[in-house]
Parts: sequence; structure tokens; C-alpha cells
Amino acid sequence: MNAVLGSATALDAERLPRHIAIIMDGNGRWAKQRHLPRTAGHHAGVGAVRRTVEFCAKKGITALTLFAFSSENWRRPQEEVSVLMGLFLATLEKETQKLHQNNVRMRIIGDRSAFVPELQERMDAAERMTADNNGLNLSIAANYGGRWDITQAARRLAQEVADGRLSPADLTEQKLEALMSLADLPEPDLFIRTGGEQRISNFLLWQLAYTELYFTPVLWPDFDEQTLSQAIADYAGRQRRFGYTGDQVLQRSESR
Ligand code: FPP
Repeated sequence: MNAVLGSATALDAERLPRHIAIIMDGNGRWAKQRHLPRTAGHHAGVGAVRRTVEFCAKKGITALTLFAFSSENWRRPQEEVSVLMGLFLATLEKETQKLHQNNVRMRIIGDRSAFVPELQERMDAAERMTADNNGLNLSIAANYGGRWDITQAARRLAQEVADGRLSPADLTEQKLEALMSLADLPEPDLFIRTGGEQRISNFLLWQLAYTELYFTPVLWPDFDEQTLSQAIADYAGRQRRFGYTGDQVLQRSESR
């Protein structure tokens, strides 16, 4: 085992993030470097998805959320969009059974009404098949946007107010949060973006409020156990304060 994997393994028990959220970026550049069409990068990206899911399941991580397709990605050339849709469909068909056997609970977050019926049915079927599993919670964000998520939650609360079931004065952060995607999971502890850009790009805007951010230049198809271990080791070395001072955090952890 190499040094990086070894040191992350040593940190495992105490400081493993419970929830990791990832923007998988760099597929197009990976392909370009090899004089291949962009879509070859997406195909290679599926391998990195598989490695990442296997690693998280093996380590006993509670939740992994992957940004597969943003609300804005429809703007890409039509050919690329249709290759991506085909890939989602094929991957769901090929991998769902295996995920189920490995006790993974899968869900798709985002507005899936924009997808073709066949893909929507596949998504529903994968969720149904894995709904009772209690291993890794794998969430795939597809036609997802953080602003969409906040808006859909707000719309549902507004409906409760309009129906007279809720008074505006009783509208709290907790009530809004309960209607957001992933409300039943711990908030992400660690956010990773591959591909070198340093932005959130309308991913989990609400849920990332206290998340530790980690950016790596590694392109998504090259992302592997070693890069993920590096990110986890970096996270494990950080002090999370949640509004407290550094001294308060130390006192609180000593008194536990
Ligand atoms: C970003 O790279 C990647 C995407 C928009 C698609 C992500 C899809 C996959 C990894 C494949 C399938 C996933 C699942 C869950 C089955 P980019 O195209 O923006 O890369 P660039 O910035 O180098 O152009």
C-alpha cells in the first residue's frame, strides 16, 4: 500500500467524512489531451464513478453525492447531451443490480421530469430496488441545481401557507430544510471538485453551508483511490468550527 493510502487509512476511524459530495469535472479536457471526442471523456468518467462508489462503500462512508448533470448542462451540443443520456441509461441498466447486491441505496435528485420516459422509469426502478438497503447512500444529481432545490422547497411551503396549514410566522429554516433534497442525510462534510476550477456551480447551495471544500487539478477520469484518500486526509487535518472560536472547539472536544 502506498504512503498516501496508508496514512488516510490510519485516520479512518475518527475523521472519516460521513458525507462526500463531488463535482466530477474535466472529462472533456481529459479527452482533448488524448485527441479524442469529448464524449470519450464521459465514458472514461464512468470508470471513476465506479471506483469512487466502491471505495466509499468499502470504507463505510454514509453518503456519496455525485453531480452528473446540472440544470445548465442542457446548453451543451445536442450530440454530447444525448451521449450523456445514453450513458446514464446504460449505466443504470448495467450497475443497479450490482449496487443492490452491495447494499447501496441509490436515489436521483433533481427535476427528472425533463428526461425521456425510459430514463425516468429506470431511475424510479433503481430507487425502488435499492430503497431498503442500509449501506452507502448514493445520490446522483441529474438535472439538478441548488437554486432549483431551494425554489422547489419554498414552493411547497408557500402552498402550505396558501392552504392555511402554515402561518408565515412559523416558517423556519428547519421547515424549509426538511423539504430540500437529501434532508434525511447528514449534510456533506467534504466537497470535492476535480478539474481545477474553484467554484460550486449551483451544486448543493443550501447543504454546503458548513462543508469543507477541496479542489484538485486531477481530471475526473483520472480520479482514483489515491486522490480520494488525499482529499480525505486533507479534510481530516482541518478544524471545523461551525461558528465557534478555535479555542472553544478544542475545549468542546477535550470535554467529550
Ligand atoms: C464534467 O466534465 C462532467 C459532466 C458534465 C458529466 C459527468 C458524467 C459522468 C462522469 C459520466 C456518467 C455518470 C454517471 C453517474 C453514470 P466536462 O465535460 O465539463 O469537462 P471539461 O470541463 O474538461 O470540458
